[in-house]
Amino acid sequence: MLLYLHIPFCDSKCHYCAFNSYVDKFELKEQYMKTILTQLSNEIKRFNLLENSIESFFIGGGTPSTITPKLYEPFFSLIKPYLKKNAEITTEANPNSATAIWLQGMQKLGVNRISFGVQSFDEDKLKMLGRNHGKKMAIEAINNAKKIGFKNISLDLIYGTSQDTKKLLFKDLTIAISLRIDHISAYSLTLEDNTPFINTPKVQNDDEDLAYWFINEIEKKGFPQYEISNFGKKKSKHNLGYWQYKNYIGIGSGAVGFLENRRFYTDNNIESYIKNPLLIDEEMLNNEAIKSEQILLGLRSIVGFSKDILTSCEYKNVETLLKEKKLTQLNDRFFNTNYFLSDEIALFIT
Ligand SMILES: C[S@@+](CC[C@H](N)C(=O)[O-])C[C@H]1O[C@@H](n2cnc3c(N)ncnc32)[C@H](O)[C@@H]1O
Ligand code: SF4
Repeated sequence: MLLYLHIPFCDSKCHYCAFNSYVDKFELKEQYMKTILTQLSNEIKRFNLLENSIESFFIGGGTPSTITPKLYEPFFSLIKPYLKKNAEITTEANPNSATAIWLQGMQKLGVNRISFGVQSFDEDKLKMLGRNHGKKMAIEAINNAKKIGFKNISLDLIYGTSQDTKKLLFKDLTIAISLRIDHISAYSLTLEDNTPFINTPKVQNDDEDLAYWFINEIEKKGFPQYEISNFGKKKSKHNLGYWQYKNYIGIGSGAVGFLENRRFYTDNNIESYIKNPLLIDEEMLNNEAIKSEQILLGLRSIVGFSKDILTSCEYKNVETLLKEKKLTQLNDRFFNTNYFLSDEIALFIT
């Protein structure tokens, strides 16, 4: 079982980002952190949660570092008995708000993995993306996390922007590696609706060769790719859990949960969520939808998918792909050889 907590606050809104977060409404922070307790208590019952059953807890956003460790305390107290002894507990953090004091406070609560939103170390690129930190602040935040004793540090980079050249990306990567981090998430810039970038498509650079080159460089630095956007020997248990189609509890406004064949959606609107955190939409997934998701998630990652979910017609298509070396096989599972082609391959199979 996985647990996700959504923090829908950011200090400022980046030009590319469509995630559910507010840059005002900070007066709701305290109330929000109380409301999530009501929803969590309810989900503990709905999921019939057993003690020591959560293998991974991920705090994402928005920006989790906009909330003080003190405000997280009650949530950690409530969830503690349900966490496995060696649970991976990650928080996302932004360089401008992840101060040494904040990082220490989160470590005290039990957080053992930090995922920093760095995006780039290039000042011009950071400005163009609308980030509210510079290179120095990002390096300082990561160094602080190291000094405090975090043994599992990841950072997010964005590539595929109009500013990107081999030289710039190589420099970003070199600085990242010099910080002795454990994991990299590298996202290709997507143009999302309701963001400033949707009106300026020229900010995107969809040069495939550059993308393949960058991924290869990340791997060459000793960070094997294990999903389209994720790299490292220390894989994120949480991310892997999603791709392995494990159940997950989603807490907070705009969070999603999943149990066997049901998906749960909380209210995206923070005020409505605070008013009634138990008003949750439910979607039933049929077997076909579950299979398609399992194939697609498996193709995008090292997880792969199993032979026994395929019809004979789908299996024939898989055999064609095996002959073309687009898939490999180990026992009764199939694996993708090029994650960038996942969508096309999934379409071909089903
Ligand atoms: C949920 S965000 C939260 C992280 C944190 N708030 C931060 O920005 O530092 C997770 C990551 O998604 C990536 N991301 C968000 N929108 C994106 C987009 N439109 N294209 C590519 N990557 C995106 C960014 O790398 C970001 O760090
Ligand atoms: S990228 Fe992170 S900081 Fe920027 S708006 Fe999105 S969630 Fe907030």
